[in-house]
Amino acid sequence: MPQTVRGVVARAKGEPVSVENIVIPDPGPGEAVVAIQACGVCHTDLHYREGGINDEFPFLLGHEAAGLVESVGEGVTDVEPGDFVILNWRAVCGECRACTRGRPWYCFNTHNATQKMTLEDGTELSPALGIGAFADKTLVASGQCTKVDPSASPAAVGLLGCGVMAGLGAAINTGNVQRGDSVAVIGCGGVGAAAVAGARLANAATIIAIDLDDRKLEGAKKLGATHTINAGDGDVVEAIQALTGGFGADVVIDAVGRPETWKQAFYGRDLAGTVVLVGVPTPEMQLELPLIDVFGRGGSLKSSWYGDCLPSRDFPMLVDLYQQGRLDLDAFVTEKIGIDDVEAAFTKMHHGDVLRSVVEL
Ligand SMILES: NC(=O)c1ccc[n+]([C@@H]2O[C@H](COP(=O)([O-])OP(=O)(O)OC[C@H]3O[C@@H](n4cnc5c(N)ncnc54)[C@H](O)[C@@H]3O)[C@@H](O)[C@H]2O)c1
Ligand SMILES: [Zn+2]
Ligand SMILES: [Zn+2]
Repeated sequence: MPQTVRGVVARAKGEPVSVENIVIPDPGPGEAVVAIQACGVCHTDLHYREGGINDEFPFLLGHEAAGLVESVGEGVTDVEPGDFVILNWRAVCGECRACTRGRPWYCFNTHNATQKMTLEDGTELSPALGIGAFADKTLVASGQCTKVDPSASPAAVGLLGCGVMAGLGAAINTGNVQRGDSVAVIGCGGVGAAAVAGARLANAATIIAIDLDDRKLEGAKKLGATHTINAGDGDVVEAIQALTGGFGADVVIDAVGRPETWKQAFYGRDLAGTVVLVGVPTPEMQLELPLIDVFGRGGSLKSSWYGDCLPSRDFPMLVDLYQQGRLDLDAFVTEKIGIDDVEAAFTKMHHGDVLRSVVEL
């Protein structure tokens, strides 16, 4: 029997979100219904509400979540009712050209649920990133459920479902930070702060946090930054060089995603170093650079989608590190809120007051 539950819906571009009754079908083949326990508010939810992702309104928002599998459809063997899972937006297909070459973290054909969740009048909802988890329950492809240690806090580990994984992975997977490296992170919101934590997990020797907001720099210090730079205080490239023997950092991560921050990353990097772009630019942004500098400085220029993570490999491992006290995911949870407070959380995010507001259900 389809169920009616509460969900946070963005009905039209730029309009405040509202809590509505939504209808969840029974899971079909390859699908699962998950009872959500906690879901973080990510910048991407706000992008959806502003029409910045696509025009497929109404959206069911929320995509950084953990919960309990309630029921599964035909043929589902990877999870069963009662499993504690983090939801992911990279349910790999196993068949595309990336998967068949043994690089599933680049999968080009990831799975979502086939059936649609709807409003009570039958209008189909577009779930954010194929998840839609500011809701009591949601319908996903079973591969979007990654089983982890059930004794972990849902509010903390749910954040691995998007922004925190993106930042950790930008450092560990995409940037391939090594023991003893110097790392600079530009922008220390939820994603950049996680990149700082990732650099520490990889035993980087020097970790430089850069932001315009001193509150974010204080937060980054707690997660492992050895040095901080307020980008408003002067030339960021010179400041990075001054902290790295005059050379620049081995890996520079741009967690803002603007042409000026990317150029700081490019020139703040040592010869043969690595730039990782994890912040998301808008379609109008352009970059102009002397090509000779791209050639002459060597190294690699990369971008990082979802931290190049493989959920089945990375989520259980990171939850174990959290449980052992080696990865402070609680530090990302600034506040716990109710399902009615998502609009207020967007305002706080906009003002830079939070790393993450987490909706508890
Ligand atoms: N690649 C991915 O898979 C992925 C996943 C999730 C989010 N993101 C993107 O990552 C970016 C960061 O997300 P977030 O949740 O951390 O956002 P956020 O708003 O919490 O953080 C951005 C931080 O950048 C700082 N900042 C802004 N301009 C700056 C500048 N010129 N120099 C230095 N610091 C500056 C802000 O003060 C803020 O602390 C966004 O673009 C988001 O869309 C990417
Ligand atoms: Zn694939
Ligand atoms: Zn997100």
